[in-house]
Amino acid sequence: MQRHPHENTTGSDLPALVTPLPGPASTALVDVLARHECPAITARRARRAASLGVADTDPFVWETAVGANLWDADGNRLVDLTAGFGVATVGHRDPAVVAAAHAQVDRLLHAMGDAYPDVTRIRLLEALAAACPDGLDHAILGLSGADAVDAVVKTAVLATGRDGVLVFEGSYHGLSLGTVPLQAYKASFSDPFRGITHPHVHVLPFGCDPADVGALVQREGIGLVLVEPIQGRGGIRVPEDGWLRRVHREARAHGALVAHDEIQCGLGRTGAVWAGDVTPDLLAVGKALGGGFPLSAAVGTSAAMGAWGASKGEAIHTQTFLGHPVGCAAALAVLGQLDTMTARCAERGARLAGRLAAEGLTVQGRGLMLGVVLPDAYGVHRRLLARGYLALPAGMQGEVLALTPPSVLSDAQIDGFVEALVEVA
Ligand SMILES: Cc1ncc(COP(=O)(O)O)c(C=O)c1O
Repeated sequence: MQRHPHENTTGSDLPALVTPLPGPASTALVDVLARHECPAITARRARRAASLGVADTDPFVWETAVGANLWDADGNRLVDLTAGFGVATVGHRDPAVVAAAHAQVDRLLHAMGDAYPDVTRIRLLEALAAACPDGLDHAILGLSGADAVDAVVKTAVLATGRDGVLVFEGSYHGLSLGTVPLQAYKASFSDPFRGITHPHVHVLPFGCDPADVGALVQREGIGLVLVEPIQGRGGIRVPEDGWLRRVHREARAHGALVAHDEIQCGLGRTGAVWAGDVTPDLLAVGKALGGGFPLSAAVGTSAAMGAWGASKGEAIHTQTFLGHPVGCAAALAVLGQLDTMTARCAERGARLAGRLAAEGLTVQGRGLMLGVVLPDAYGVHRRLLARGYLALPAGMQGEVLALTPPSVLSDAQIDGFVEALVEVA
């Protein structure tokens, strides 16, 4: 039987590179990808670099991952400081998630969404309500973060009778047709689609005077204020203490609902179960929820969700794979470890942030959602990769190196990463 390099490991090891990145196996696979995938999706950086005259490389190709380690198609072992876009908070291939998914695969792969629900989805909805702030106890499940935000926006329109949405500079809520106009991170993501997307979206600076929120909500008849309590892709930005609470007060005084997008910062990532210190009307959850399976939720108060009315026989919001049983089983295994995961993010985050600060680096964020402010975060991320550490640049000018690793990151991995960062920064 073929042995995989990740057998007998918990994924707490330092990098071990056996080829330069990308190696020959990755390169051959990326060539196949380039022949069959839409060219806008996977960056073929070496080709772009050749045309621009700058040094860059094509991506490596993931083969497997455990804990905080991943292996590529050439057998290179890396340390993942991204948790795969913030998904593997519990760890890659967490044993409880894998066991729950296997058990579900042996029982039921697919049921009938809204028409005939299955047991696992019902159990998951119950567990999710228990994990959410008090009063947020009705959910619409989805498969992606964008699905959750789409459902949040539709709910707010029904609950308030207003279609305007207020978001904040640097915000990112997904790239579906419904969510792309809501991102205020890169105009190039939404500009080509302006003619077919939501025309009534307003943007204020993140951390603005909360009175500006009230004034805009009133003037423009806004029904939803949508905010990331800690901005992720926008640069791991934490607003001033009390800002979120004041935004809530202003929005509600003028008739708008408030939704928190905790798709990245929620579920323990910041060392608290939820990053927001005040309870919203609606909460978008995704990424870490499925432990690696695609699953998301828009969770709301019974008042907000009640605006949909009772089902009249045909759901007016559903999808074929609503509440996919395997994703729900995996999510139950994640929620079963939520307290442990949250405590680990707080403890590991304090150690990582402390080590970075001790090196004189400027660190922002909370728990294991950290950003290191660096003038050349893009270049630093390339140089870290050459040493086997995967981290992504974030921020509107790419001014931050984002660190959202699995909560099982080991002491050795933290120390090794900080040493590598100091060498290449
Ligand atoms: C805060 C936030 N909201 C929404 C999304 C979109 O999630 P998805 O890519 O699963 O649609 C992301 C993804 O990075 C995110 O960080």
